[in-house]
Amino acid sequence: MRFERFIERCRAEWPEFDNPRRLEESPNPATRDLSGVLTHVPGMATENKLKLLNLAVASLEPDEIYVEVGCYKGASLIGAAMGNPDARIFACDNFSQFDGAAAALDAVIAQFTRPGQVEFHDMDFREFLTRAPWRPAKIGAYFYDGGHSFEDQYDGIRLVLEHLAADALVIIDDTNKRAARSADALIARQVPGFELILNLRTPKNHHPAWWNGIQVYRYRARGPIDCAALMGAAFSARKLIYDDLLLNLKHGRRALRARIKQSLRH
Ligand SMILES: C[S@@+](CC[C@H](N)C(=O)[O-])C[C@H]1O[C@@H](n2cnc3c(N)ncnc32)[C@H](O)[C@@H]1O
Repeated sequence: MRFERFIERCRAEWPEFDNPRRLEESPNPATRDLSGVLTHVPGMATENKLKLLNLAVASLEPDEIYVEVGCYKGASLIGAAMGNPDARIFACDNFSQFDGAAAALDAVIAQFTRPGQVEFHDMDFREFLTRAPWRPAKIGAYFYDGGHSFEDQYDGIRLVLEHLAADALVIIDDTNKRAARSADALIARQVPGFELILNLRTPKNHHPAWWNGIQVYRYRARGPIDCAALMGAAFSARKLIYDDLLLNLKHGRRALRARIKQSLRH
């Protein structure tokens, strides 16, 4: 990743780039070439987010690739690819969350990217990151927008670390969620060289500036990483709180509300 070039380009798009509180409110980047993407491709993204991904891909070293987890109908993928026809892209989704996205994604990739530019894998992201179909190439920019349980978020970063270039960007979506921020922070604590460079929050989900929050990390490898050795007690404690207790409680409350609604209808 040509990191300095990426930052320069960000400053050109958002003159307030070095002031995160003002950047959080920025309605759009200066260059509006991606403003139409979300009208053609329904997505869980904003123009700002697409531009950030696009600049990351534009700043790859020639032999590096872009990898995305969680494509839905392809808005973020197209935002990243547009105007970057030489970048090689690997992406994955298992379509576990929303109906009808698989066919839409196929059509969008065919319509908006160069033939062969995107290699898409319909599978769980853990299998995708373990198989690493891009090898021996290294990832210069990685976007994680898959499942948002603590364990998903943590594994979404943990399993990619060994595939990152010596200097790489890791962009993580939906970081308004506490579980997401906690997973990111734990990795940053455990992995030398994993440094938070941008942390943008929004007042609510679906926000027009940065959707549901976004974090950008710079990873500068300081040696080989043993992914399996990372988890440990700190991981287990957080998983217990965020997934086994809080997430289960949320699902239980949702199911109860649905049952009450249904019984009121009868
Ligand atoms: C928030 S959506 C992605 C939005 C998309 N990036 C956009 O810009 O519109 C999250 C996606 O992650 C996918 N997903 C969730 N868990 C997954 C898993 N374990 N493996 C692969 N994909 C997963 C869902 O199917 C869903 O399409």
